Amino acid sequence: MRIVVVNNYDSMSDEVAKLVIAKIRKKPASVLGLATGSTPLGVYELLVEYHENGVDFSQVTTFNLDEYVGLAADHPQSYRHYMEKNLFAKVGMERKRTHIPDGTAADLDAECRRYDELIRSTGGIDLQLLGIGSNAHIGFNEPGTPFGSETQVVDLAESTIRDNARFFASADEVPTQAISMGIKSIMQAKNIILMANGGSKADAVFAAVKGPVTPEVPASVLQLHPSVTVVVDQAAASRL
Ligand code: GLP
Repeated sequence: MRIVVVNNYDSMSDEVAKLVIAKIRKKPASVLGLATGSTPLGVYELLVEYHENGVDFSQVTTFNLDEYVGLAADHPQSYRHYMEKNLFAKVGMERKRTHIPDGTAADLDAECRRYDELIRSTGGIDLQLLGIGSNAHIGFNEPGTPFGSETQVVDLAESTIRDNARFFASADEVPTQAISMGIKSIMQAKNIILMANGGSKADAVFAAVKGPVTPEVPASVLQLHPSVTVVVDQAAASRL
């Protein structure tokens, strides 16, 4: 595990965007695993700038980590909407190569199996971006999720609903379930970048990087992966 501590949010975004662009330059048909939340927004802004300066995203395939159950693609808080707004529409992605679980599927379990199968059929994820929840979740894999889990429907932890309520009119409107790539699905990515900023993530980052490897700290599984880069600002790294 390589740990890169940078000064602030902008430097974190810069560092991660450079790694993503290096991957795309080396392999234009890269398969990227993408995250949502506020953490990667700066990275996506920079990827848009790189695109405007000539980096071609037309052959890139993407898989998002998760999607809320019950939110349609055009719901302003759906992760499909987030990705369209912040990245896909701005870098000329071929939509058929952008994948996000369908939280409105009639058969959610079948949708989960379809998603893992689709990831496998593309040859797997070359580079997976991850944020981290304040309870150290990755994707929406909450504490206690078995490390062997594949994509599945998950119940969101109370703390996650509270954390994400800021994006909704009230906590009551936050969906209580999501489809999330499983821990095993994430660990199958060839390379992983975990990013975090701000003091509210300091405990989660410390537990993930220095604590025991346990399903109670989902991000701690990354200690077992052969190619992980952790990019954190000083506030998030304050306990390391
Ligand atoms: C959500 C997402 C995660 C994300 C986490 C942190 O719950 N499912 O993928 O990493 O929140 O979000 P933020 O970056 O807004 O702190």
